Amino acid sequence: MAIISNCTASIIKDAALALKEGHLVAFPTETVYGLGADATNEKAVARIYEVKGRPTDHPLIVHISSMDLLDKWASEIPEYAIKLARAFWPGPMTLVLKRTALAKDFITGSQDTVAIRVPSHTLANQFLKEFESLGGLGIAAPSANRFGKVSPTNSQAVEEELSNFLSENDQILDGGQSQIGIESTIVDCTRHFPIELRSGSITIEMLENVLGMNPSWHDSESNKVRVSGSLESHYSPNAEVILSSFAQPGDGFIALSNFPTPSGAIRLASPKDIDEYGKILYSALRFADYRRIKKVYIIPPSENGLGVAINDRLFKACGKKS
Ligand code: TXA
Ligand code: MG
Repeated sequence: MAIISNCTASIIKDAALALKEGHLVAFPTETVYGLGADATNEKAVARIYEVKGRPTDHPLIVHISSMDLLDKWASEIPEYAIKLARAFWPGPMTLVLKRTALAKDFITGSQDTVAIRVPSHTLANQFLKEFESLGGLGIAAPSANRFGKVSPTNSQAVEEELSNFLSENDQILDGGQSQIGIESTIVDCTRHFPIELRSGSITIEMLENVLGMNPSWHDSESNKVRVSGSLESHYSPNAEVILSSFAQPGDGFIALSNFPTPSGAIRLASPKDIDEYGKILYSALRFADYRRIKKVYIIPPSENGLGVAINDRLFKACGKKS
């Protein structure tokens, strides 16, 4: 297993062939890197769970290159879901829909729903198209990190997380730094109204603008759905994450660039705006672990736009409920 940079058409073709043969291929998306397997190959998908150390009842997102393959995986698709797909795909949004027979229990965690996403990253899209030209129907891909850990936003981070668990024939495709850096917005579209299951860079306001309505986004029923990112502790580095500014000398510190660094603290990131905050947050947390920093103090951004998703991940990183 090696990181493959400079992904030419022939390299992408080889990677698609490897996937078709049942190997795993980690690849970039605009949100975070995914660990891909042929979504119809039970053995290959089983390896995703092994490599991640993830419980097998946690469902996976199936990635496709365009809406054209949606009907293969999903049925009873409501009109509002089509509206969302037309507005935000390709892009950082995942729709949970009623499954077809193609979406087997090993993908859905035995639920009768399936999560689907069309990513916009150019390399991801080329890879999906190549895989589909070989007869592939979709790539199952969770974030390419060990279960409960911080999602990787570049190929080195994937290697650090998974190299001990991947085999010789698996691959990591390098497509640079993920531009968004925070996992996709997940919308449950299995009822008469949409429910947001995970916040992301497609905000509630953006969803509402497209839907032309003010839906009730919170529903106690949705708590019954297994979303692994909704566990209390998730997206966690080894360091203890504390959401305050009282860093002591030797502690890590992350805040927008207009906040000064507390005396003696180690500045891990100074994003200039909310988009940069999302893009560099996970690398900064990884860097804290690399430096063996024990405590990281973070001033969260305000809860507007992408700030909602960043706050959600920060609360989970420190083991609190958001
Ligand atoms: O941005 C992303 O979504 C990245 C990139 C690689 O696409 N993927 C990602 O996958 O974050 P993962 O597995 O780390 O998180 C997907 C979340 C999990 O919390 C899972 O439980 C939830 O989606 N999920 C998958 N299928 C579901 C379903 N049928 N119903 C409810 N939640 C589902
Ligand atoms: Mg994940």
